[in-house]
Amino acid sequence: MSKRMKKISPHLIVLGNEKGGTGKSTLAMHIVVSLMNVEKKVAVIDLDSRQRSVARYLQNRRTSMENGSARVAMPEFTVLAQSNAEVVKDREKEEERNLQQALDSYKRADFIVIDCPGNDTYLSRLAHALADTLVTPLNDSFVDLDLLGEVSATTYQVKKLSFYSEMVWDSRKYRSASGKAPMDWIVVRNRLASLDSRNNKRVHDALDVLQKRVMFRYVPGLYERVIYKELFPSGSTILDLEKVNSLSHVAARQEVRSLVDSLNLFK
Ligand SMILES: Nc1ncnc2c1ncn2[C@@H]1O[C@H](COP(=O)(O)OP(=O)(O)OP(=O)(O)O)[C@@H](O)[C@H]1O
Ligand SMILES: [Mg+2]
Repeated sequence: MSKRMKKISPHLIVLGNEKGGTGKSTLAMHIVVSLMNVEKKVAVIDLDSRQRSVARYLQNRRTSMENGSARVAMPEFTVLAQSNAEVVKDREKEEERNLQQALDSYKRADFIVIDCPGNDTYLSRLAHALADTLVTPLNDSFVDLDLLGEVSATTYQVKKLSFYSEMVWDSRKYRSASGKAPMDWIVVRNRLASLDSRNNKRVHDALDVLQKRVMFRYVPGLYERVIYKELFPSGSTILDLEKVNSLSHVAARQEVRSLVDSLNLFK
């Protein structure tokens, strides 16, 4: 990891893992809106320049307002693409420079939220090394647990850590070597099934073993709910709705609030 990157003062929240479709962009959007709702100044950097999910979500939010929907808070946001330079060193230098520029341009924000792609890229590694808070969503299955480490399904012994956990470990070493406060790593279970299933309990037990070994905090996240996906075209979230009139929506709002509370962002 290069020493060229400078830490800036806004609190950096990174959404990352190396598996597609676990809920990084969805959680990023809900965290962003939660923070704006308590009057925090938020900026967003989308490192997934292929899908641009968060940037598209925010673009939809802006377009809805331009088309006459109620005014809602908007963060500043940008998408950073990977460099096309031929030589690896040049690519890395260019990506460091671009990320640093984006961070510097948001230095007056309270929080910068960075959404990573679901695969290993140099930009994503840089973001992990700078993260004050790392949020890793995980779907509720043993398949997704492999993303963190291999856990025996019978004895719950941790057999081996994943490349991703090793990468986060390296990021932590980099931080402590440069005298920064430790990163807070939070693993969030996402798309929980509404029934308290046997699988649910087994994943809980395995995560409990893993969190001591890999040093993350694991928190229950969001249940599987249509409301977390159906508002994408309007760029809004359950937190933006003026009226919530179903029990499921009330529960969803509460879930998002508990999740954001558990990140301990206002120490
Ligand atoms: N709690 C949830 N309930 C219902 N649908 C969800 C929930 N969380 C995420 N989804 C849906 O799951 C899909 C994947 O979510 P999302 O795009 O946030 O994942 P991601 O980790 O950002 O994926 P990628 O790695 O491809 O960037 C999307 O269709 C999203 O709307
Ligand atoms: Mg995404």
